[in-house]
This record gives sequence, C-alpha cells and structure tokens, in this order.
Amino acid sequence: MLHKTNYILAIESSCDDTAAAVLHDRKVLSNCIANQDLIHKAYGGIVPELASRAHQSKIIPVVEQALAEANIDKKELTAIAYTQGPGLLGSLLVGSAFAKSLALSLALPLIPIHHMQGHLLAHFIEDENQNTPLFPFLGVTLSGGHTQLLLVKDYFDMEPLGTTLDDAIGEAFDKCGKRMGLGYPAGPQIDQLAQKGNPHRFDFPIPKLKGYDVSYSGVKTAFTNFIHKKEQKDPNFVRMHRNDLCASLQYTLIQIILHKIEKAANEKHLNQIVIGGGVAANSEIRKQLDIKALARGWEVFYPPLAYTTDNAAMIGIAAYYKLQQNHSGSLSDSAQARLKM
Ligand code: KG4
Ligand code: ZN
Repeated sequence: MLHKTNYILAIESSCDDTAAAVLHDRKVLSNCIANQDLIHKAYGGIVPELASRAHQSKIIPVVEQALAEANIDKKELTAIAYTQGPGLLGSLLVGSAFAKSLALSLALPLIPIHHMQGHLLAHFIEDENQNTPLFPFLGVTLSGGHTQLLLVKDYFDMEPLGTTLDDAIGEAFDKCGKRMGLGYPAGPQIDQLAQKGNPHRFDFPIPKLKGYDVSYSGVKTAFTNFIHKKEQKDPNFVRMHRNDLCASLQYTLIQIILHKIEKAANEKHLNQIVIGGGVAANSEIRKQLDIKALARGWEVFYPPLAYTTDNAAMIGIAAYYKLQQNHSGSLSDSAQARLKM
C-alpha cells in the first residue's frame, strides 16, 4: 500500500467550491478551484441544491484542469483522496461518488479526509517560505461552518477544547454583512471596508462563556437590532457608517475568539498557534494575533492564502499523512454531513 513516492489526486466539494489538486508527496503540483460565488450571490447565502448541481457540472473539468496543470496522466496517480465531511451532504456526495468511481476504475487506494483536519494540515504542505508547526500545538479553525479550538497532538490526534455554541465566526461575518447589504460571502468585503473605519465607533457585546466555547449569535442579534433601531431614525444610517460598522463588528468578532485563544494557550501551555479556515484570511485577525504573539512569545502559523479558504491541496496533504500511516478507506465509507474530529 505504501508507495515510495505518491501522486495524490484530491477532491474537495464540501460546500460551494469544486476543487481538485494533485500532490507529489507534500508538494502541490496543481490546486484548482471552480468558485460558485456568482451562483449563490443572488440569494445572499449558499443554496444547497444549487451547490450540488454546480459540483456535478464542474467536477470533471476541474479534475481535468488539475491533472493538466500538474502535467501528469491519471494512470500515474497512486491514490485518490476526497472530503468525507463535514459539509453539505449533497455537495459531499458529488465529490465522494466521483472519487470512488475513479479509484475503482484505476484500482487505486481511496482516502476519505475530514475537512477541518485538512484546514489545519494545510500547514504541512511543502513550502520553502513557511516553517511547519511542531506537535503539540493549539489548532484554531475559523470558517463559515466551524469555530474550533483544538489541542493537536499528532496529524490525526486532535482533541476538541471548545467550539461555537451557535453560529460560526464566518457565518457571523456573512450574516451581518448581508444585513448591511453586502454580497455573499461578506467576510472579505468587511475586511476591506473595516480598514477605513473606526473599530471603537460602536460597541457590541462580547459574551462571557466559561471554558473554551464561544458564541456568535448574540453579537449578530445585537448588531441587527442596533441597525434596525438606527434606521428607524435615519434610513441612510448603514450607507453613512458602513466602514465604522464593519470595523466595530470585525473588532468584536475577533475579540471573542482572541480571548479564548489566549486562555487555551496559557492553560494548556501551548506557544504555537496554528490557524486554519477561510476567516484566517482576515487581515485584522492576523494583526491582532501578531501583537499578542509578540507580547506572549507565541509563534503563530497562517497558511498561505491559496490554502486558507476551501481548497483541495489541504485534502491532498492530509491524504499524504494517511498514506504514511498506511490508512486508507473503502468504497463503503459514506459522506457525512456531521463528522467528529
Ligand atoms: O473555510 P472556508 O473557505 O469555507 C468553509 O469551510 O466554511 O470559509 C469561508 C468563510 C466565509 O464565511 C467567508 O466570509 C470567510 O470565510 N472569509 C473571511 C475572509 N475571507 C473569507 N472572513 C473575514 N475576512 C476575510 N478576509
Ligand atoms: Zn473550510
């Protein structure tokens, strides 16, 4: 089973991006994404049925593009990896069914991967400009569907410390952005607009939860109610204060997770903080973490932007480590909308 050298085709279709990548061991040869943002923009959020249909029409062209850019023939592949979950079931089924049929026809090992493990293992992709973290470290996954703090002891030994009790951080960015009339996904736009705003112009509540869990729905409700109240008096309120609203909201969303990162790092004696997931692209969270890192002696790891939002290279690198441990899956593994770490 263990190949001296691996050519892994990885497929990621957990949400609204159809992605395929080819890796030669830890090195990424291609990393292709067919983005569905335009399909979902009109609805202000992902429509699962439309996402599954788009995956169906895009998966073959994206896989062909990944093979072509890597300049390898499918007969040279040594394993096929896919995202097993968590995610939207219809979307996951397209990627897993495609991966299974390809693995079956090429008689290759089939490797199911946990999407959020992929987000953290993206840090182990070969990159001469980046250090790789050493175990144990504090893993922090920040995405549209997840907000988790994990004690990461090994590649596939990740102990959840805390999670969101309601909305994920990216979801809070997107829903509050929608209330301000921003398109989907709103996170990157809030990041941009906030750079021209005052983060202390408006105050939103920071929930006080014990342990390492966080909550984002309270801020979302407070933000929505605040805008509603202001608009009663001035219908142009959002337009006139958009930058300050974005900066103040972003400040609050970041403070919530920052407090918990600091608490976990202190109490678990971890000084490497490894961030993954789409919200890790946020410029302010990077700035705030860097300030803390300087004061606390932490080393903070951010994945390169191409491996931050959903991508298939992160699924490929996770599969590489599965192969190193002689782990592979079978045709009977099923896609799982919810999947434990
Ligand atoms: O990891 P990801 O690509 O997909 C999921 O697994 O959910 O994360 C997508 C999330 C969206 O909520 C998007 O708004 C957010 O990441 N995001 C950002 C930024 N770039 C992406 N949020 C804040 N600032 C950004 N620069
Ligand atoms: Zn993700």
